[in-house]
Amino acid sequence: MKYGGVTYVFLFLVVVPLIEQCQAASKSNDDDVRELQNQTVTILNGILDGYDKRLRPGFGGPPITVRVSMYVYSMGPVTEAKMEYTMDLYFRQQWRDERLQFNADFGLALNAEILDSFWIPDIYIINEKSANYHTILYKNSLLRIEPNGDMLFSTRLTITASCNMDLSHFPFDKQRCSLDMESYAYSDNDVQFIWLENSPVYVDPAISLPQFKFLASSTRSRIAEYFVGNYTVVSADFFLGRDITYYVIQTYIPSSMITCLSWLSFWINRNAVPARVALGITTVLTMTTLVGNAGNSLPKLSYIKAIDLFLGMCYIFVFAALLEYVVVIYYDQPRYQKARQLMKEFLENGQTAKEDAAKTIDVAIDIEDEGNSRSRSEQNGRTSSRPPTSQDISRSMQADAKRKSGDDYGFIEGKVSKEEPDCMEETLCSYTQSFREKICVFGFNPYSVDRVSRIVFPLVFFTLNLIYWLVYLVFDNITVEDLKHTNTL
Ligand SMILES: *[C@@H]1O[C@H](CO)[C@@H](O)[C@H](O)[C@H]1NC(C)=O
Ligand SMILES: *[C@@H]1O[C@H](CO)[C@@H](O)[C@H](O)[C@H]1NC(C)=O
Repeated sequence: MKYGGVTYVFLFLVVVPLIEQCQAASKSNDDDVRELQNQTVTILNGILDGYDKRLRPGFGGPPITVRVSMYVYSMGPVTEAKMEYTMDLYFRQQWRDERLQFNADFGLALNAEILDSFWIPDIYIINEKSANYHTILYKNSLLRIEPNGDMLFSTRLTITASCNMDLSHFPFDKQRCSLDMESYAYSDNDVQFIWLENSPVYVDPAISLPQFKFLASSTRSRIAEYFVGNYTVVSADFFLGRDITYYVIQTYIPSSMITCLSWLSFWINRNAVPARVALGITTVLTMTTLVGNAGNSLPKLSYIKAIDLFLGMCYIFVFAALLEYVVVIYYDQPRYQKARQLMKEFLENGQTAKEDAAKTIDVAIDIEDEGNSRSRSEQNGRTSSRPPTSQDISRSMQADAKRKSGDDYGFIEGKVSKEEPDCMEETLCSYTQSFREKICVFGFNPYSVDRVSRIVFPLVFFTLNLIYWLVYLVFDNITVEDLKHTNTL
């Protein structure tokens, strides 16, 4: 309260004059603004007075040059199935219309409201499939006029354009997608398009596309000759490289693992038919599904893609693993038959050589005894299933003793030829051993088919894999430079 009076004096002396000053300033400001408005309206009325938008600038003279440039702020998706891509951009055209020169030290910034009053280049996109202006909340366009008649027209577009893709390297491919533009009505005698000198195509570095990486962009221009005249065509090229991570996870790893899984069969006993057949067929069917899914997002192309090669390789491996088991089973049966036959031959040879030994009285008695006992058992009520008597047991024990005494051949002829050959006898063992070696030479031994497969299948698979990845990632890798030199249009 002590300083109240001083405060009021301060307010009166300092603040009130300030407010008065401000009011005076705003009054003169308002006048300026009003004058500017009046001036602008006068300019607009002046330049549109006698302006005919139906005639191009510099009508009757040399062609006018329209500089184009674009700012791409979003890209994608790229649709292989339809061979098209989508992007959002600000499209800009700059030209000079000398009829619109005016005397002022500022340019005019106008919105879409006034566009209809001026001549605007009638550029169109040759490879466009669909495109739209944006009109939310109001038409997204601007027009700027400089005192010297320089015009800048910018508009926001979403364009879906066709892109001819070569998918033979898919998914290791890189694509060039272009945007080709020309005037519809004016040939190059009237309007010529050129790219702006400084950074004609600017792509937002933060751009991110599904599956693709944006690599680079470039511009081209050429003259297209049509029946109706020659037109200047300006093209922007966008280079996109596919990111294979998705395909590695979705296709390459699963199919490699299925292939490895099919090799487990080689470690399973060849007599376990259900296990090995089930494993083989399951892996073949899984591969069929993978092959089917891999081409889902792609058009039905008539050439082989890189991914087809890999899946085809895996498919062949899985199928070969199943066939391998068929081979094992097939050669397993004749082996026994052949073994039996070879053994018979061997035994016959042995018999002639050791005729004396084969015709010993003991064997004769043994065989005779056997015949007797059989006929006897038939007589005793035709029941072969009668329990063995003590007589039978003692007789067989005697026979055993005789066998041990050295008459091997008689025993073998009488008994083993009826049974599967197994390694009960040393000679037989050595014989089947040599037989095994013999068929081993021709590679048909079912034992070794599995054993060889265990090494050969993985070895061949990994070698082919190495070649595949080297070819597609190193030797046959497409670069942006390669793409620039391929022809389009
Ligand atoms: C604009 O200025 C002109 C003269 O320069 C004057 O005749 C006219 O009345 C003014 N118009 C407005 C709206 O102030
Ligand atoms: C188009 O260009 C070609 C070669 O440049 C020329 O021969 C031809 O006369 C031109 N056509 C028109 C209609 O100007």
